[in-house]
Amino acid sequence: MSNVRNLINITDFTVEEINKLIEIADDIVAHHEKYDEICKHKKLATLFFEPSTRTRLSFEAAMLELGGSVLGFSSANSSSAAKGESVSDTIMTVCNYVDIIAMRHPKEGAPIVASKRNTVPIINAGDGGHFHPTQTLTDLLTIKRKKGRLDNMTVGLCGDLKFGRTVHSLIEAMLRYPNIKFVLISPEELQVPEYVKEKMNEVGVEWRETESLEDAMPELDILYMTRIQRERFFNEEDYVRLKDSYILNLEKLETAKKDLTIMHPLPRVNEISVEVDDDPRACYFFQALCGKHIRMALILFLLGIVK
Ligand code: CP
Repeated sequence: MSNVRNLINITDFTVEEINKLIEIADDIVAHHEKYDEICKHKKLATLFFEPSTRTRLSFEAAMLELGGSVLGFSSANSSSAAKGESVSDTIMTVCNYVDIIAMRHPKEGAPIVASKRNTVPIINAGDGGHFHPTQTLTDLLTIKRKKGRLDNMTVGLCGDLKFGRTVHSLIEAMLRYPNIKFVLISPEELQVPEYVKEKMNEVGVEWRETESLEDAMPELDILYMTRIQRERFFNEEDYVRLKDSYILNLEKLETAKKDLTIMHPLPRVNEISVEVDDDPRACYFFQALCGKHIRMALILFLLGIVK
């Protein structure tokens, strides 16, 4: 294992470090000019073995806005992985070229393999149905900006809670804050994995499962919608049966709190009707903007430029 500081799972960072990242992200927005050239001569590699719009482009925009440079690939087919190169060999090679790496891979655990012999920081930009810690940082920044706090709230997570890696990371992060209650809304087949339930039980956080979004709606402070993850299903028949389990529309929001915060890591398919986009409670595109700010903060933190 290398001694370099990485971000593989959200629990690699303490609550204090996460709060610090949020502080840096807010300072970047308030004093953008301070940060314009701060990463001059630094390079970020985005190694994406799986498709992405927000994560890859926000990482690249983040580094460019900090005055640094970016290089990388956006699919396994355009790298030597297509010729059979291992993740470990790819990482050891790319460490010669850049100062920091953001990597997305379809296999759970690939970033752990990548972080055995790296000489520059590695950021897990999503590994299979496992974790997505930078989405979680994005989500926490969004919640902090919208609610002014990260404690004392009821968080509803809805959709594919089995394969939705953003859900697993967000639960792990939020159960460390006081007085958080989770309402897990999914079909039985798509409930959160046992290991996530065990973590909630270990901490003693309050949680319950339901199949009904309508029942849960009135009590929620946050509603975190997720896409049914077609690419992680073993057969198309199950996907087709479950894909429209939840479609949030204005009618369903009638019983919601006036200050509900509606989130979605995106991309969405059908699970939020476009009519909801104009509701002041919808903040998923603001969330995508927060993703750039927190990734700027993360790059500065892992490079040791801002402590
Ligand atoms: N939220 C998220 O990870 O989006 P992308 O897959 O587009 O990066």
